[in-house]
Amino acid sequence: MASGSRDEEGNTDGGSWRLIGPASELSKKRCRLMHSSLGYDSDVCLFYVKGEFFAMDARCSHSGGPLCEGDIEEAEGVLQVFCPWHDYDFDLRTGKSGTSLQQQVYEVKLEDGNVYVKHPSRLSLQPLPAEQKS
Ligand code: FES
Repeated sequence: MASGSRDEEGNTDGGSWRLIGPASELSKKRCRLMHSSLGYDSDVCLFYVKGEFFAMDARCSHSGGPLCEGDIEEAEGVLQVFCPWHDYDFDLRTGKSGTSLQQQVYEVKLEDGNVYVKHPSRLSLQPLPAEQKS
C-alpha cells in the first residue's frame, strides 16, 4: 500500500475502507446493522446472501424503514431486499428499486478473512455516539 497523496487509508473517492470484522463471524447472520459515526440516518446494513456480502444504507430511502429486517428474494438472478414497511424492493447489488427510488450501496471487499466496507464515516457493529469524532 503506497502512502502518497491520498488520505491515511489510501482511498480515492467515496470514503475509506472500514474494517468490519472476520467474515467467518459476519457470515453467520443474514444481516448486521453497522452504526455510522455520522449518526442514525447514515447507518448501513451488511447483508450476507448466497455466499456474498452486500452493504447498503440501512434506512429505506422511501420513509426510513429498517432494511435489515426486510425479506430477501431472488428473481431472475437479481437479489432484492423488500422493505418491511411498504414492501418496496431494492437490488442488493445496485440499490435500484422497481419504484424510482435509489438506495445507496457501498463496495465490500474481503481481505485476509476480514470484511471491509468503503464508507465516508467510521462504521461499528456497536452503537456509536453521533458526535464522536474519528
Ligand atoms: S419505508 Fe421502505 S418502503 Fe416505505
